[in-house]
Order: sequence, then C-alpha cells, then structure tokens
Amino acid sequence: MQLLDGRATAQEIREELKNAVNARRAQGGKTPHLAAVLVGSDGGSLTYVTAKVKACDQIGFDSSLIQYDDFVSEEELLAKVNELNNDDDVDGFIVQLPLPSHIDELKVTQAIDPLKDVDGFHPENLGKMVLNLPGFLPATPAGILQLLKRNNIATSGKDCVVIGRSNIVGMPLSIMLARNTDPGNCTVTLAHSRTKGLKEKVLKADIIIAAIGRPGFVTADMVKNGAVIIDVGTTRVKDDSKKNGWALKGDVDFEAVAPKCSYITPVPGGVGPMTIASLMINTLQSMELRGK
Ligand code: GUN
Repeated sequence: MQLLDGRATAQEIREELKNAVNARRAQGGKTPHLAAVLVGSDGGSLTYVTAKVKACDQIGFDSSLIQYDDFVSEEELLAKVNELNNDDDVDGFIVQLPLPSHIDELKVTQAIDPLKDVDGFHPENLGKMVLNLPGFLPATPAGILQLLKRNNIATSGKDCVVIGRSNIVGMPLSIMLARNTDPGNCTVTLAHSRTKGLKEKVLKADIIIAAIGRPGFVTADMVKNGAVIIDVGTTRVKDDSKKNGWALKGDVDFEAVAPKCSYITPVPGGVGPMTIASLMINTLQSMELRGK
C-alpha cells in the first residue's frame, strides 16, 4: 500500500506556481489576486477559507477575505459579487459554500462572472467542462485528477465508482473521469442514496472515490485487493484526545481498508491540500484569461 500524499503533491504545485508568478513579475506582470467571500461562522468553512488565503500568501498571490455574519441579505451578497466582478484588480473569487438557507446558492453562483469563477461552479464553466473546452474546472475534482496524474496512477480503461453526486465533487468528477482525457477514460459508476447493490458495485472497482460525508462508510469488505482509494470526506467528529475537541474523519475506514489498497489518500493530508492547489492554478489561469 502506498499513501497518496496530497500535502507533498500540493507543495510541488505551489513551488511551480511561485516560480511562474516570480517569472511574470520579473517581466513587469501583475500579481494574481484571489478574493474569498465567507458568510457565517461555520468552523469548517472558516478553516477552509483561512487555508486558501494562507496558500495565496505562501505562493506570493494577493488575497482578500470578505466576511459577513449569518444574517447578511441575499441582496447585499449579490451586490458584493457584482462589485468583485467589476474590480479590475481581482482576477478570481470564490463564495464559500454552504450559504445560509435564506440565500439562493444557485443565484449567487450564477451571478459570478464566469471569467472570474475560479471554483468552476458557474453553469457556463460546468458546461465547458462537459464538452472539454477551456474553462475553470471545479477545484476538488481537478485536484483529485492532479493527484492521480502526478503519482502516475493510470486511469484509462479502469472501472471507477464515485460514491456521492454532489454538485461540487461527485457529479463533476464522474464526468471528468469519463472524458476522453488523461487522466480520464474510466468507465464510471456514479453511486448515490438510491443505488442498488452498492457493495457489489464498489467491490468490482479499480478506483473508488468516496464523497458522501459519512465517516467510515467504505469498509474493508467493499474493497477489492489492489484498488485505488480517494477519500474526499472531511467530517468533524468529537475526539476528546485532541486539543480542539474534534478530529477530521474521512468516508473510508482507513485502518481496515489501507492494507488492501494499492494507493489510498489519508484524511487529513490527502484531497484537502489538492483542492487548494487547484484553486491556486485556476487563479493564475484567471489572470491569464483576462489578458493581465
Ligand atoms: N465548500 C466545500 N468545498 C468548497 C469549494 O471547493 N469551494 C467553495 N466555494 N465552497 C466549498
């Protein structure tokens, strides 16, 4: 079994980006600028957004963090999106999800200028992804593809089961893995809450991607020997042995499953850092797409 070290792979990407930015600056180019909008006080969202801003600092990108409390109106948030769309110094921006229930996420997502949509959530970018046209790829699926590619894990012709059909991960990833690209060319099964015979389907898979947010859902009896496992789950679980009182748990029963796999991602330190690295790639690309 080999650990798929997302921290190390993400660090490799950060170094490449740092060099690319320095080379551009040496020629008088602009510094890429990512803005992040955070609504509310969800601990997980705050952790992720803080990590994104920190990654910008490490690479030498400019960043802005715009924070609202839970009670911000949809109107005010849409006005901020409009302002960021028109701010020439901001190359790309994200609105961290989930949003409070009184705000329509799709409306907010659709209000973002597709050329600044570095999360790749806008319908225009998702459509381009399906057609394999240039555009922004959603950060977590793109990060998983980078992790497979940079660790020389072949995907062509492989049977892949993606568990979970979220708009952010499972749905786009199932399409990206099925496209005629490298990585890609998998035969993909997208499994969800209505799937019949899930265990039998997962048992046949060469590549298993778990993205449902249910700690320890994938157990050893669901995994064939030599499978590649990508664990997208990051649920906070009470853990009194930790200083902050909780631990991050993946969707895979790591201890039991790891001995059966060829490759497996840890949680934390697997997919999470790769999501952030993809966002940084998209931010540099956003500056280039805007001709800056
Ligand atoms: N919530 C969970 N993952 C993400 C992400 O990649 N981007 C945004 N904007 N929100 C998220």
